[in-house]
Amino acid sequence: MPYRDIREYLTVLDDKGKLKRIPKSVDPSWEISCIARWMFQALADKDRFGLIFENVNGFDIPVMTGVLGASRDVYAIAMETAPDEINEKWGRALLNPIPSDTAKSVPCQEVVLTGDDVDLNNLPVPVWTPTKDAAPYITSTTISRDHNTGVQNTAVYRAKVKDKSHLTVNLAPGRHGTLCYESYARSGKPAPFAWVIGAEPVVHLASVANVHYGVDEMTIAGGLKGEPIEVAQARTVNLLVPAHAEIIIEGEVRPGDVDEEGPFGEFAGFMGPVGKRPVVTITAITHRLNPIYFGFISQMPPSESTVIQSLGYAGLILKLLRHDLGYRTVKDVHVDLTYGGMLAHGIVSLKTQYPGHAVRVGRAVANETTLKRVTVVDDDIDIRDPMHMDWAMNSRMNPARDTILIDNIFSRMDPSVRVRDGEVEMSSKLLIDATDKSGRSDFSLPPRDMMFKALDSWKEIGLPEFKIPKRTQYILDREK
Ligand SMILES: Cc1cc2nc3c(=O)[nH]c(=O)nc-3n(C[C@H](O)[C@H](O)[C@H](O)COP(=O)(O)O)c2cc1C
Repeated sequence: MPYRDIREYLTVLDDKGKLKRIPKSVDPSWEISCIARWMFQALADKDRFGLIFENVNGFDIPVMTGVLGASRDVYAIAMETAPDEINEKWGRALLNPIPSDTAKSVPCQEVVLTGDDVDLNNLPVPVWTPTKDAAPYITSTTISRDHNTGVQNTAVYRAKVKDKSHLTVNLAPGRHGTLCYESYARSGKPAPFAWVIGAEPVVHLASVANVHYGVDEMTIAGGLKGEPIEVAQARTVNLLVPAHAEIIIEGEVRPGDVDEEGPFGEFAGFMGPVGKRPVVTITAITHRLNPIYFGFISQMPPSESTVIQSLGYAGLILKLLRHDLGYRTVKDVHVDLTYGGMLAHGIVSLKTQYPGHAVRVGRAVANETTLKRVTVVDDDIDIRDPMHMDWAMNSRMNPARDTILIDNIFSRMDPSVRVRDGEVEMSSKLLIDATDKSGRSDFSLPPRDMMFKALDSWKEIGLPEFKIPKRTQYILDREK
């Protein structure tokens, strides 16, 4: 059964040993972020867990972070699938979106605060990069709406707590939330916005899907869930919000109302600059009884932000290649978990069918995505195993022949490009074809039958049990 709300999900995460409840009292102005930061900096992906800070100084609302994207395993539990099935699940959801449905009960409005009762300072919003961020920041799912079509957009746009009833939201040019705002501003009308804090996991995971403007990510969340997301009319703005969320913050952006936003610790590992961004006037805060606050942790990689964006992006790219572009022999796609999908390293495994096939597929990925490096390997490579990837690069890639530089890429987010006189220099991309061109399959491993026979001897001797690494399995399978 799909998780109805994030509480059901937390129970499952806990049962699987992937959630730590922290009873110690913690200070949201630095301690929550620093503890979560150590989890990402010091623990390997497989050892990480979601965190719930149950006792937040000065608040009676607990704070959860890392609960959706501490690691690939945690993400898979949030998606209700196995780690190896994440891409396929994304593909099915993208091809079979399910429209939202009206909720019969609306827990997220058990408490409704409007007018003078609105006070963002009553929410335990953490400071994510203490002493460097401009203020506490809300880092959760943002809903907006196109004035002309009525279609909603769901994304994550960070929002600075400016004062008790105002946020300043980082709506960058061209972003879909910006287009929604502009569609209202052109008619001189305030644009409705809502922040969703702690809905069922798929709502948040789908909100970072890079789909076209006009596609409501909530329908993709429905596709991931396998049933409609239950939504309710927000109390003070014309938006439909997930009914089972912990907290909803409703507001509107009045045309031309802007203020300073930033600095803020960015996903790429550096502090982002100060800029002028739209101000949201908060019209209501609604919440469940005894709500739990939720925020994605981003900043220095690896982070929850990089994990969820990379895993989501890989699913999208696989669907693009196989379904939209018809490259049926693409086996798998991986985007490294450290660079947030954007600017990251994307790896495609492909059963090549003709000379130049790998470069063609790699170029398609480079053109259609923000990835900075794209590597194409054969389908006998485990693309999530760094050792196997190195083997492919060292043994099948001839740098002078197999690398292509794609220059003149505009990328405002790439920290490696220089800004001169306010102008951002161009970035570039690297495409690597690490597929085999020699036709060699005379691997220096004993024959498959012998290797499997030796497993019996291994057991008989009583040597420690192991799972056959995919890299070995794939190579042995080539010799079948
Ligand atoms: C924690 C977190 C914070 C983010 N903050 C922003 C932001 O402030 N502005 C932005 O444009 N994208 C931000 N993103 C990335 C977008 O949410 C993501 O690219 C999304 O797909 C954009 O949706 P859109 O295409 O509907 O605009 C953030 C992602 C995460 C996980």
